[in-house]
Amino acid sequence: MNVLMISPGFPREMQFFTRGLAAQGATVIGLGDQPRERLPGPAAEALSAHLHVAFGDDAAIVEQVANFAQRVPIHRVECLWEPYMILAARIRERLGLPGLTVQATIPYRDKEVMKRVLDAAGIRTPHHYSATTAAGVIEAAETIGYPVIVKPIAGAGSESTYKVRSRDELDGILPALRSVTEVSVEEFVEGEDMTFDTLCVNGEVQHYNISTYIPRALFMKENEWVSPITLVYRDPDRPELAAGREMGFQVLKALGFQTGYTHMEWYRTPAGEAVFGEIGARSPGAGLVDLINYASDIDTYTGWAECVVHGRFSQVVERKYNAAWIYKRARGHGRIQRYEGLEAILTEFGPHIVEIDLNPIGSGRRDWRQVLVGDGLVVVRHPDLATTRRMAEHIAAHLHIVAG
Ligand SMILES: Nc1ncnc2c1ncn2[C@@H]1O[C@H](COP(=O)(O)OP(=O)(O)OP(=O)(O)O)[C@@H](O)[C@H]1O
Ligand SMILES: [Mg+2]
Repeated sequence: MNVLMISPGFPREMQFFTRGLAAQGATVIGLGDQPRERLPGPAAEALSAHLHVAFGDDAAIVEQVANFAQRVPIHRVECLWEPYMILAARIRERLGLPGLTVQATIPYRDKEVMKRVLDAAGIRTPHHYSATTAAGVIEAAETIGYPVIVKPIAGAGSESTYKVRSRDELDGILPALRSVTEVSVEEFVEGEDMTFDTLCVNGEVQHYNISTYIPRALFMKENEWVSPITLVYRDPDRPELAAGREMGFQVLKALGFQTGYTHMEWYRTPAGEAVFGEIGARSPGAGLVDLINYASDIDTYTGWAECVVHGRFSQVVERKYNAAWIYKRARGHGRIQRYEGLEAILTEFGPHIVEIDLNPIGSGRRDWRQVLVGDGLVVVRHPDLATTRRMAEHIAAHLHIVAG
């Protein structure tokens, strides 16, 4: 099987999915804006050919691929990187290939269409309106009642996403939204940010995962002092997760998702209700795939590829650990000077730490607004949920990267 993999080397996770395709016996053709010699090793080694393109002009890329496909037939087009999902669908349509069409991709890309489809299926979404003008945003906010969330319909990484508590605050953010053509205005849902992530084959869920962001994604995006944590539950069948899990299965059915990785976000309210957040027809980002793998000692990079290439997921999953990463943002400006608290943490939690990757001493601190991973990461895992959470919160509070 010849698979066209879009953006085979970026973001970081893609190189492992690309390698997985080759490991499953596919002939992998890359398409992306990185030249072949600058692709990360695992991606470069997995590719039989690479189409180096400048993203932007979809029609031109579709024609380029169609020409290429006259020499080397393409059997599948895969894309796990959100910005190019529509391009992938256009190529599929042009070549007459199975997988998501443009029409079927839109509900994953447009947060208003997404919620309308799910409303029709009886799924609990936040009360929402779309708006294309400042007056429309104001009207929507006043109809819903404050606080509301205002965000672009095709947003990612909480970019231009605001919690708005009053008309005054709304007036304050409207200028920043001028460049956004359509926004979603939503009821603000109190609760925890949760995920529901799956591998599917022909509409059947082969593996699912539930995790939580600590604190909520928007809060970590707004406050530099936070050390963001994502925690994967060892047991996604815990009773308190049941509402979200069931919603996840219903959402996949309502959207007719077939084969691949999915990443859904939902909110768990203090009363235990599940409210839909968003869904991507792609793998989760920011290292969550690694946590899913650590939790069960599995490899869902290759597992995804097996779903795509062979239509099955044959890894035996034993749910062994809760797993959490903690991202650290350096204190101070300039270059990384030292780490504080690292030795104590290694002494205390050593056997439960599976990965440490800190921005090296002497290197420049990163812009925490640009990179969620900040200046370093620690990954812990443990069979007991409370212990895992305690370790993660301890590391968030007591490990410091100091710049100056
Ligand atoms: N209706 C809502 N109620 C409460 N919080 C919300 C709501 N909508 C969004 N948020 C907060 O904002 C965050 C970002 O929103 P959303 O996930 O829709 O945007 P995104 O930019 O696609 O996010 P990302 O790409 O980071 O997953 C959510 O994770 C949540 O913390
Ligand atoms: Mg999100």
